[in-house]
Amino acid sequence: MTQYAPNSESNVFERSLVLIKPDAVQRKLVGKIIERFENKGLKLVAMKLFLATREMAEEHYIEHQDRAFFEKLMDYMTSHPLIPMVWEGPNSIKIIRNMLGVHDPTLALAGTIRGDFSVNLQNNVIHGSDSIDAAKREINIWFQPNEIPY
Ligand code: TYD
Ligand code: MG
Repeated sequence: MTQYAPNSESNVFERSLVLIKPDAVQRKLVGKIIERFENKGLKLVAMKLFLATREMAEEHYIEHQDRAFFEKLMDYMTSHPLIPMVWEGPNSIKIIRNMLGVHDPTLALAGTIRGDFSVNLQNNVIHGSDSIDAAKREINIWFQPNEIPY
């Protein structure tokens, strides 16, 4: 009999950089979030927990450096340990963005991670790369090549 892996029907594999943000680690939502990605059929290919440096947080959100919310965002991102992860699967970037929900808490749909776990625009639980180029750039910020075992 054919054995079906969750992701056996496509060979268009992408890697997405996901951050479980400081508020989610502090609120002990880590297991619930990882469970959603595992249930979906995505593959965890790298993960660690640590306190982000200001430099890493700045590099990660460089596109927002001139926005009024940037300084507060930097304080938040460096306030408590966070969990960078790399998730792999077919079309994983788009799939994960849909699983996160939009950043506006009044518009994030129930059933999405932000829709289910957050009412706050800044403290919004999770980040996921929004394109293949962004994913490559972001993975290089948070991981050394030898920290990605697959
Ligand atoms: P953005 O890239 O617009 O959203 P997303 O995380 O969905 O890609 O914004 C990056 C993060 O910046 C967002 O997750 C939360 C924070 N943020 C604020 O704190 N205030 C704001 O007004 C906006 C637009 C974003
Ligand atoms: Mg963004």
